[in-house]
Parts: sequence; C-alpha cells; structure tokens
Amino acid sequence: MDTILVTGGAGFIGCNFVRMALRQTVSRVVVFDKLTYAGSLLNLKDVEHHPRYEFVRGDIADRRLVAEVLQGFRPTSIVHFAAETHVDRSIEGPRNFLDANVIGTFELLEAALAYYRGLGEKGRDFRFVHVSTDEVYGSLGPQGYFREDSHYAPNSPYAASKAAADHFVRAYFRTFNLPTLITNCSNNYGYYQFPEKLVPLMLLNAAAGRNLPIYGDGLNVRDWLFVEDHCAAVLAVLRYGKIGEKYNIGGGNELNNLQMLEALCSALDERLPAKENPALKARGLTSYLQLRVFVPDRPGHDRRYATDTSRIRNELGWRPACRFEDGIRRTVRWYLDNTAWCETVLAGRSGARPPFIPDNHQS
Ligand code: NAD
Ligand code: TYD
Repeated sequence: MDTILVTGGAGFIGCNFVRMALRQTVSRVVVFDKLTYAGSLLNLKDVEHHPRYEFVRGDIADRRLVAEVLQGFRPTSIVHFAAETHVDRSIEGPRNFLDANVIGTFELLEAALAYYRGLGEKGRDFRFVHVSTDEVYGSLGPQGYFREDSHYAPNSPYAASKAAADHFVRAYFRTFNLPTLITNCSNNYGYYQFPEKLVPLMLLNAAAGRNLPIYGDGLNVRDWLFVEDHCAAVLAVLRYGKIGEKYNIGGGNELNNLQMLEALCSALDERLPAKENPALKARGLTSYLQLRVFVPDRPGHDRRYATDTSRIRNELGWRPACRFEDGIRRTVRWYLDNTAWCETVLAGRSGARPPFIPDNHQS
C-alpha cells in the first residue's frame, strides 16, 4: 500500500487534504505535526479511527525523529504543509518563522534525501511536494498576474521564510535530484481555519457583535480559493505533476478586503439575521457592516495578489470547482455549527496577539 506522509496535517489546509486523500486515494495517510497553536487533533477527529490514518506528533526540524518516521512508515510521497503561517505573527516575532519554515524545511529535506537515496530503484515513484504561497512573489499593482517564472520579492517575514524554503526545495532537486514539486497558492478560506485569519476572524467577531478591524483603507486585493479546491490541486500535482516543476494555484477570484467583508456579512445575515442577533441589538446596531472599523495598516502590507494558473489548468486539467458564493455560504454555516471547535482552539492559543482587536480600538 502507498503511504503519503503529510506534514502539518493537523492544520487548516492539511486536515482538509488528509480527508480528501483518505476519500480519493487508497493510500495510507500518516500525519506528522508538531501541534502548535494552529494545529489540533480536533481537526482530524472524524478520521481518527480510519484504518488508513496514522498520526505522529513531532517537529519537522527534528531530523532524527523525521528519519525514524520515514523508516517506520516508508512513505511513497511527502506532502509538506507544516509551517508558521500568519503574517501578523511573523511581524511580531519572525524567529519562529525562520525555525519552522526555513530550518524545518531544510531538516525535512535532509531526512527525505537520505531516505530517498536508501530506496534505490524502489524510489522511482517517490515525490516530495512542497506547499507554498503566492506571497513569495511580493505585491502587484492594479495590473498583471504572478506566473511561475515571476521573480521572488517577499515582503513579510512569513513570505521571506516561505521563499527561502522554496529555494531550498528547488536546490535539492537541481543539486541532489530529490524529486520535488512546488505549489504556490493564493489565499484559502473554508473549514478549520484558525480564527486569526481574515475570514474566520470576521465571522466570529460579527456573530458576537464585536468590531471588524480592517487594516488601512481595506482596498488590498486577495485571490480567494476554497480550501478543498486547493487540496484537489495539490493532489493533482502529487499524481501528475512534473518533477522539478512549480505550479501556481488560485481561484481567479479577486476581491478587496471591503468586498470580502461585504460577502461575509451578507452570507452571515442569511443564516443569522443581524436584526435578530442579540449581540448587535445590545449595541443598537442593525447590520453586521456597522461593526466595521478601520485600524492602522499592517506594516509592509502587500497591495494585490493575483495568480496566473494557466500551467496547472492546461497541463494537469485542474480548475476550481467551488463557486465563491457557495464556498462562503458553506464556510459561514460550518463556523456557526462549530462554535465549540472555535472556543476550544482559541482557548489553547499561544502568542501575544489577541484573536480580535478589542472594541475600543479605533484608528
Ligand atoms: P496552519 O497554520 O493552519 O497549519 C500549520 C500546521 O503546521 C499546524 O498543524 C502546525 O501544528 C504545523 N506545524 C507548524 N510548525 C511545525 C513544525 N515545526 N513541525 C511540524 N508541524 C508544524 O496553516 P495552513 O493555512 O493550513 O497552511 C498550510 C501550508 O499551506 C503552509 O505551508 C502555508 O504556507 C501554505 N499556504 C497557506 C495558504 C492559506 O491561505 N492558508 C495559502 C497558500 C499556501
Ligand atoms: P490574512 O487572512 O492575514 O492573509 P494574508 O495576509 O496572508 O493575505 O489577511 C487577508 C487580508 O485581510 C490582508 O490584506 C490583511 C487583511 N486583514 C484585515 O484587514 N484585518 C484583519 O483583522 C486581518 C487578520 C486581515
């Protein structure tokens, strides 16, 4: 039986990928995750008894442990999601991003290379898929798109750490022939996203009648993709991608943050009408958008991301399946139905940053 080792499989995208891989392949799926504040076994609760699922807690930077896991489970592929991922945290404390994303990826590559070499002929089908972000390309003006050959210009410590990791992955292919592939995806939304990123933060704050903090003028543009479409793209790259190649992934769905907030508030209003929400009534408000407050901008805030996805569409036949309106509705419903999950993961959070800007915070 094939085995996929999924690093970071207890995080947002990783857990959605694990579910999809168990559904759509016959492979065993082994999750290797440190369970930082962003990772939780709750995210994998529904698969914990699945006969093809295994979990190992560990740090990708612990090369000896990774080597033991590789020898023990003998994976046919590694899909590498594990990372520190929140830009705001990378501004407050870049060191963790260097440790997890750069050193962690380097140690994982070293362990993977030693394991791959030991496979000899049997390693013919081995693949190392490195999951990265479009943020490595920097910021766009009003025109243009990131292509796979766009130059790297990371602006946040998060983006810089992911860019460094991408370069190491590329180097391990070029120099040591490790069969790697890289994906660079745009912003994801969907189930199990830790409530510090824009979408879940705004949903939870709005439902609870708390302020909705918009950084700067709110005109920064992101290309939003439903998480399951990202997972399907990673699976397509794993199965059919060309070794040594990189693939951009994106939703073709550009929205500025004010537009995203409007979409979220209107989907929330359908399920939980603001006029009937006691938390809003208590503040004398009748619409979720009235909770919007402009707060000081994020330093180095990238203005626009937009991805040209022709390579993955033309070469691998992938395209997003979920319409934005449906994805947002499904996401809103999931967060409203899973308030216990939200409370538990937030209660276990670490780090100095509060999960939302307090009500008295005004720019
Ligand atoms: P996440 O923060 O929700 O989850 C990260 C997971 O990695 C957590 O389970 C955490 O415990 C684990 N982890 C962190 N450091 C680790 C370490 N040293 N060893 C082992 N496990 C560790 O992140 P996410 O949003 O699911 O992102 C997953 C990957 O996808 C990341 O590499 C990220 O850069 C990339 N990506 C994310 C997005 C997005 O919109 N969220 C977009 C494009 C690319
Ligand atoms: P985020 O979800 O942190 O993703 P990224 O920075 O990786 O794109 O933020 C998405 C956008 O939303 C980004 O332009 C910053 C903005 N934003 C806010 O305006 N307010 C917030 O409270 C957060 C978390 C983000």
